[in-house]
Amino acid sequence: MDGNGRWAQEKSKPRVFGHQEGGKKVSDVIEAAIESGVKALTLYAFSEENWGRPQHEVNALFQLLTSYLEREVLKLNRENIRFRAIGNLKRLPERCQNLIAKAEQETLQNDRLILTLALSYGSRSEIVESCRSIGFKIKSGLLDPSEINHDVFAQHLYANNDGLADPDLLIRTSGEQRISNFLLWQIAYTELYFSPVFWPDFSKEHFKEAIRDYQNRQRRYGKVSESIST
Ligand code: IPE
Ligand code: MG
Repeated sequence: MDGNGRWAQEKSKPRVFGHQEGGKKVSDVIEAAIESGVKALTLYAFSEENWGRPQHEVNALFQLLTSYLEREVLKLNRENIRFRAIGNLKRLPERCQNLIAKAEQETLQNDRLILTLALSYGSRSEIVESCRSIGFKIKSGLLDPSEINHDVFAQHLYANNDGLADPDLLIRTSGEQRISNFLLWQIAYTELYFSPVFWPDFSKEHFKEAIRDYQNRQRRYGKVSESIST
């Protein structure tokens, strides 16, 4: 969800105004995902690197998150949406951590859509954490190094601990064409879609356009397409 700051700057407004307007777009995109038959949606809301932004911006972002959780979790639950968060959540303000834990607990049984917020998330850290926890297991005799494979490795990532499949499609808004430390392990074969639209302007229709674009792609996973396999 990129481009809040530039969207606000274009309107000669403070960056935080862009975050407020961007926050309002989240429920539209959730709705569009459900209407498109998407079963899992992960939103990159705050990266590990975002901690380096000015303190007042960081504070404003977590105030927005807090009020989002206070306001929306009841609705998510009514809509049969399961909520979860991934990232280094221990760095989050305590109030946010508590609201997240409560939301995860309350929506645990829901299965219409799995909504994941990536918060204080960094993929390299996630991978290093996975290595560390595997290391500890080996040290305590719970795992033999010969047992490490793709599945074992992925099970130690916080993004995969609910058995979620790797993403089919990654959408980045605002015209930037980079990954920025997002789900590096999980996107090995994900289709990438870059939209020039700033996040606060990203509508349900823009989301559905990305889905249509995805549906026209041919995924080969390094193999050849069936029609030319002979
Ligand atoms: C939103 O957009 C992403 C968040 C970290 C919340 P940005 O704040 O990165 O907006 P730009 O890239 O400065 O326009
Ligand atoms: Mg940005």
